[in-house]
Amino acid sequence: MSKDSLTITDNRTGKTYDVPIENGTIPAIALRKIKKDETDFGLMTYDPAFMNTAACKSSITYIDGDRGILDYRGYPIEVLAEEASFLEVSYLLIYGDLPNARELELWEHEIKMHTYVHENLKGFMEGFRYDAHPMSMLVSTVSAMSSFYPEAKDIEDGENRNKQIVRLLAKMPTIAGWSYRHRRGLPYVYPDNDLSYCGNFLSMIRKFSEPKFQPDPILERALDVLFILHADHEQNCSTTAVRGVGSSKADPYTAVSAAAGALSGPLHGGANEAVLVMLREIGDKSRVPEFIKKVKTGEGRLMGFGHRVYKSYDPRAKAIKKLSEQVFEVTGKNPLLEIALELERIALEDEYFVQRRLYPNVDFYSGLIYESMQFPTDMFTVLFAIPRAAGWLAQWLELVNDPEQKISRPRQVYVGPARREYVPIQKR
Ligand code: CMC
Repeated sequence: MSKDSLTITDNRTGKTYDVPIENGTIPAIALRKIKKDETDFGLMTYDPAFMNTAACKSSITYIDGDRGILDYRGYPIEVLAEEASFLEVSYLLIYGDLPNARELELWEHEIKMHTYVHENLKGFMEGFRYDAHPMSMLVSTVSAMSSFYPEAKDIEDGENRNKQIVRLLAKMPTIAGWSYRHRRGLPYVYPDNDLSYCGNFLSMIRKFSEPKFQPDPILERALDVLFILHADHEQNCSTTAVRGVGSSKADPYTAVSAAAGALSGPLHGGANEAVLVMLREIGDKSRVPEFIKKVKTGEGRLMGFGHRVYKSYDPRAKAIKKLSEQVFEVTGKNPLLEIALELERIALEDEYFVQRRLYPNVDFYSGLIYESMQFPTDMFTVLFAIPRAAGWLAQWLELVNDPEQKISRPRQVYVGPARREYVPIQKR
């Protein structure tokens, strides 16, 4: 018997089974052999919210939640945030290695050549209600893209897949920028392909009558760093959505729009918006202890704190806290920062948070930066979605190329009524 195995004794039958251990996991399907009798379906695991289930093998992102480590393709996030650009990191996530100078040049050129969208897609966006949430517009418009590029359905063709990846990455800032302009009743600004990825995005947000928009280089770089920090985070809720939908061989626009929908929830990408709402509600540093008391008695959560995986300080939050100082030098200090710092100080010393290992996550400080850069709160999740598209596409590509993957189809434990007689409506 191999040492890398698990011996299970079924006390119902007295039989023992050997199950192989590989990469710290056992294949769940091996449990199916464990049966009470021949008619039994076999054992399954019960794991609501996938608390302890690996659903794929991945070589994209590594997280050690206990030690606060996050690596993309083996490179520490802190190093990438310091040294690389967002498009360089996107290439790394999608293709597995850092590009050389020529590859990066070609990649940036490809992306820039695809920033414009079909005029009818613009017309589609113009049809949204004046007060539509930008995230709703983004989710629906990305989904609508599959009707503009029907060839995207051919996901078996590598070249075709690549074309859709470039299109999606290139057009996300355009759609995001226009969702902002639409909400404010402002004319949409066409992409400026002389600018960088983030510079162009800022132009589509900020430009008015000036012939050429020039982004502030510090804010442009800050946004690029924020994009790097948000680009991937392995098997979170939205990545699970992109993989789940992608597993049916739906086209990438449909899969990415499903992921963006998952990201919009307040427990996932919507948390940065929720943090700002919370900080405004608290209103003053002196009211922080009272707020913490409420959280501890179960009246709401301290938004931007806690994580399913990180049980120490989220490395992204650390980098963002540092970045905020550079941004505030340009924009002036955000008055809500005082409240956030006080919340963090008290929470990190409080037994409730210490015991549950709740630390600031990526969303705790990012909202303050976005707000200081004059993004309204309803744009925060959109700012998360633009760079996360790189991670979703990398994960989608990995899924499509993985021979071990099939259509996603979890099992359930049925706890409803046993079969019963249908009673006609007159007799009920
Ligand atoms: N404030 C107060 N208590 C909390 C918090 C919080 N932010 N987060 C967790 N807890 C408590 C929770 O009440 C529970 O306590 P008890 O054991 O007494 O019932 C314990 O900590 C474990 O919480 P959980 O809900 O079982 O943990 P989870 O892994 O299911 O949830 C989470 C993770 C991120 C959804 C949760 O921590 C949360 O709701 N945080 C606030 C929202 C937030 O900031 N989300 C952004 C996540 S980071 C962005 C991303 O990567 O998507």
